[in-house]
Amino acid sequence: MEIHDIFVVGAGFMGSGIAQTAIQKGYHVTLNDQRSDALERAKAGIRARLDRLVAKERMTAEEVEACMGRLTISTSLEGAAHAGLAIEAIYEDLEAKKAVFRQLDQICDPSTILASNTSSISLTSLGASTGRPEQVVGMHFFSPVPVMRLLEVVYGLRTSKATLDTAMEVGASLGKRMILAKDKPGFIVNRMLLPMLNEAVQILDEDIGSVEDTDEGMKLGCNHPMGPLELADMVGLDILLEVMETFYADLGDTKYRPAHLLRKMVAAGYTGQKSGMGFYRYENGKKVGVNPVLQK
Ligand code: 3HC
Repeated sequence: MEIHDIFVVGAGFMGSGIAQTAIQKGYHVTLNDQRSDALERAKAGIRARLDRLVAKERMTAEEVEACMGRLTISTSLEGAAHAGLAIEAIYEDLEAKKAVFRQLDQICDPSTILASNTSSISLTSLGASTGRPEQVVGMHFFSPVPVMRLLEVVYGLRTSKATLDTAMEVGASLGKRMILAKDKPGFIVNRMLLPMLNEAVQILDEDIGSVEDTDEGMKLGCNHPMGPLELADMVGLDILLEVMETFYADLGDTKYRPAHLLRKMVAAGYTGQKSGMGFYRYENGKKVGVNPVLQK
């Protein structure tokens, strides 16, 4: 099935990254969010990132205008009616995601494929909240979406082969390499990655190492491009906590129990880069030092 129009629900870091990648590859994209300020911020962020590509001589100003011309922002879900593919990229909450899927199912053309960017929630459950479970699929992107090469395609119990094929074709057209995963919390990548980030928080909580040394350990010792605490800040500590809660509840092993300090950080409002404070302190999105409450 050929897709020309993509509807993205959720204008956060992931949703706007998906929208940017898709307009750069020639898709017409509607980016949806309930909050118009979030949409305006996302649009300005996309333009700023594309303008940086002009400065690096990777795009022309005309190409940026053409890309921006393919982007529509909207607070209404009604625009999803004729999209070939709708990708939900809201926060990790089963009921909130089910509500979006139920509405999309009512609004969208019967042929529309409904995808979720979820990193931990069951695609089978999301599919069951619609009348088209065969057309529900996971398209799990990685952050920052325009840069990371991977797309994890996830199939629920009732996802059809035709839907999987279309998700793979769209992924390839977005310049991604695909891996295929069964519907089980965390799929392939997050099942490994997020417990590692949680363990880094645990190490900090047990005073084994400082924020900087925990990160340096993995950067210099294992060649990771970012330290786990820095990466946790980028992912969002609230999201990390939600995912670990899902792992702990669904997989049942105490090795998935969220670190106590992670709960405290989220309770304190330290959700990472997006709030300006996580394990590190950020100014204009740039890391400027360790969160003072964690400094020894
Ligand atoms: N959007 C678009 N492009 C971005 C970007 C963003 N938010 N942030 C950085 N970039 C681009 C830069 O423009 C630059 O492009 P260029 O090389 O073509 O000029 C390139 O990325 C490298 O950026 P920098 O030189 O500024 O910085 P680094 O070399 O340190 O790279 C990084 C930044 C790409 C983020 C790198 O540190 C990295 O790969 N980190 C690991 C990221 C990772 O692990 N992501 C997965 C997170 S888990 C996830 O998403 C799953 C979810 O479900 C939780």
